[in-house]
Amino acid sequence: MSDENKSCSTPSNAEPTATRSTVPMWIFAVTLVLIYLGAVFFDHHSGWFSAKVYAPYGSVDEVDLYQPKSGAAAQLARGKQVYEQVCGLCHGTDGAGKPGQAPPLAGSEFVIAKGVSRLAHIPLLGVTGGIKVEGKDWNMSMAAMGAALSDSDLASVLTYIRSSWGNKAEAVTADDVKGVRASIKNPSPMNGPDVMKMPE
Ligand code: HEC
Repeated sequence: MSDENKSCSTPSNAEPTATRSTVPMWIFAVTLVLIYLGAVFFDHHSGWFSAKVYAPYGSVDEVDLYQPKSGAAAQLARGKQVYEQVCGLCHGTDGAGKPGQAPPLAGSEFVIAKGVSRLAHIPLLGVTGGIKVEGKDWNMSMAAMGAALSDSDLASVLTYIRSSWGNKAEAVTADDVKGVRASIKNPSPMNGPDVMKMPE
């Protein structure tokens, strides 16, 4: 320890002093070139980004394959969506109806009827007064809950209730609904007893 102290204090070993000098330009140049080459390399080799993630499709047909389908499945999906927004609150998401609120749609003779005219009239016009559903009397009132829906949306809802909860009846088309809508001359709620006598 004392040796070190001694050598430090000798004039010939004086502490070096820092002098000001600029960083040579070539260091900047080399750094820039290295960054540039790194970027080019990264660009060409995609690093760890998998092509399967960033360009997963080989052709437009392949992309098409993954698009949602039109047709029956799409109509049912749409019908379920509209049903749950517009009808389900009263008739129940399970279609079983609710005591004191709305009769069941599951198993209802109005819903699974062969023809769709009477069924389509119900949401288009509404019903007031006594109707019998599956042998049980109802004497309530339903407004024209489906009148504001498009032909296609109402067709989807009706198709959905005709093929859910054990119901098995044919699909309803937008043209069916359009036809029924066009045939309506007096858009006011129907009487229950009149609905009971209506042809399917
Ligand atoms: C605010 C409650 C409410 C909403 C919402 C509602 N309904 Fe009704 N619905 C009723 C009531 C109450 C009756 C029975 C009316 C009567 O007693 O005359 C009924 C009767 C029916 C009937 C005939 C009886 C049966 O059970 O089969 C059908 C079909 C029907 N509704 C379909 C629909 C459809 C489709 C929608 C949606 C577009 C809908 N309802 C929305 C309350 C509602």
